[in-house]
Amino acid sequence: SSLDFLRCSLLDWYTISGRDLPWRHTRDPYAIWISEIMLQQTQVKTVIPYYDRWLRQFPTIEALAAADQQQVLKAWQGLGYYARARHLHQAAQLIVQTHGGQFPDTLEAVLKLPGIGRTTAGGILSAAYNQPVPILDGNVKRVLSRVMALPVPPSKAMKHLWQASSELLDRQHPRDFNQALMDLGATLCTPSNPACLLCPWRTACRAFDLNMQNDLPVSERR
Ligand code: ADE
Repeated sequence: SSLDFLRCSLLDWYTISGRDLPWRHTRDPYAIWISEIMLQQTQVKTVIPYYDRWLRQFPTIEALAAADQQQVLKAWQGLGYYARARHLHQAAQLIVQTHGGQFPDTLEAVLKLPGIGRTTAGGILSAAYNQPVPILDGNVKRVLSRVMALPVPPSKAMKHLWQASSELLDRQHPRDFNQALMDLGATLCTPSNPACLLCPWRTACRAFDLNMQNDLPVSERR
């Protein structure tokens, strides 16, 4: 089917062209959580050294929970949006108190942690536990808006976009599928001048078919 074509072609592309990123070498939900929080508002290239240093300084959830806030904020210095660091610290203490120091493995429990919304929860649960939980970050919104040639700004179609991410998700390979979708958005399906000629989804992309890849997604008017 067409969904199977999209899944297979994306996973084949990812095998050859996916990025080698530090958090893809671990299944430790704590390390993956840290990476996803850092990546919420900060570029991959900036995040990498902070991620490595953070895990050396706070190697476990218990270590983070026991640290004092000044240490935590100092390790975050330069990343900006410091609420992320305060939420990480609070969440680590909550995980020690209510989950025995083990990062939770259900969507319901993960969504209760401060600083974690739906897409971050999907990123963590799929990467750490290979659970079939969809993601919808900025890159994925753009990719899906183009594939479907969505005629409205992403903010006006959140239900539709979540449904697309969920229906498309490869239930056999949720970890690799979600990572591949993020790489497609970050490396080929970029905001300007997307590299459509290299894209595994070119033949299925409605935006490419209509030569509208540079005009989609429709911009949020404000
Ligand atoms: N942005 C958010 N999560 C990411 C991940 N796991 N890999 C690359 N970029 C990301």
